[in-house]
Amino acid sequence: MNMAKITASVYTSHVPAIGAALDLGKSSEPYWQAVFKGYDFSKQWLKENPPDVIFLVYNDHATAFSLEMIPTFAIGTAASYQPADEGWGPRPVPVVQGHPELAAHIAQSVIQQDFDLTIVNKMDVDHGLTVPLSLMCGQPPQSNFAWPCPVIPFAVNVVQYPVPSGMRCFKLGQAIRKAIESFDKPLNVQIWGTGGMSHQLQGPRAGLINKEFDNAFLDQLIADPEGLACKPHIDYVREAGSEGIELVMWLIARGAMADVAGGPAPTVAHRFYHVPASNTAVGHLILENK
Ligand code: DHB
Ligand code: FE
Repeated sequence: MNMAKITASVYTSHVPAIGAALDLGKSSEPYWQAVFKGYDFSKQWLKENPPDVIFLVYNDHATAFSLEMIPTFAIGTAASYQPADEGWGPRPVPVVQGHPELAAHIAQSVIQQDFDLTIVNKMDVDHGLTVPLSLMCGQPPQSNFAWPCPVIPFAVNVVQYPVPSGMRCFKLGQAIRKAIESFDKPLNVQIWGTGGMSHQLQGPRAGLINKEFDNAFLDQLIADPEGLACKPHIDYVREAGSEGIELVMWLIARGAMADVAGGPAPTVAHRFYHVPASNTAVGHLILENK
């Protein structure tokens, strides 16, 4: 194998209170144990299937970007990214190391496939990116205070309307796959889609969680991602809450899997669902390419 290859995709919620529970030493409390036990398998799996690079699709929450500037899709091409201060100080987690060479290649290829990406050479990363890393990697030891591999942050605007459609995200995932698999170094790349599942943080429906919607979403993400990509954004808002729209990011990771390009269906290595954590339904899936 001389070219980079996408070996697996990982999907997970990014609930900021999970980061706080870990950082404040509350992870052994029963409330949080019920969440973290869903990731015991995943931490072991990541150790046994270590990627060279993680392409991490996430959303910024008005931390690096604001109403002053709203890129729909932004790729991080920097050498490193600092954990952001989200109001309680930056999380005490390692600096995220990037992969500028692969990121620049992906930017070139995806833009030439007609998707407009914003190229970001300096950016802080918030819970949208650091909480998925914490859930999958655990707390890095002080003796080796680093994430296990470089990460390419890929930020999607799902905070300020207009947001991209599920279908555009799904097609973008296909373009990202072509980009990664045309990089001429034998890198093992995982693509992670994060955010979701159902939740609403604002207005009269604050606290909304929809288990039926979430489990149907997981079923269809596995078996019929193209059909799922046809779901209009208003259905996410109506059924999964205003912040449930974060789920369109999962379609980017799913669109990058081999079956979408005519290969074999992925294997479901792990599936987990738990409600609630903070105001959010926690969903998690690991799909492996054969
Ligand atoms: C919560 C969930 C989010 O996705 C977020 O960005 C902020 C808060 C919550 O569940 O409280
Ligand atoms: Fe969020």
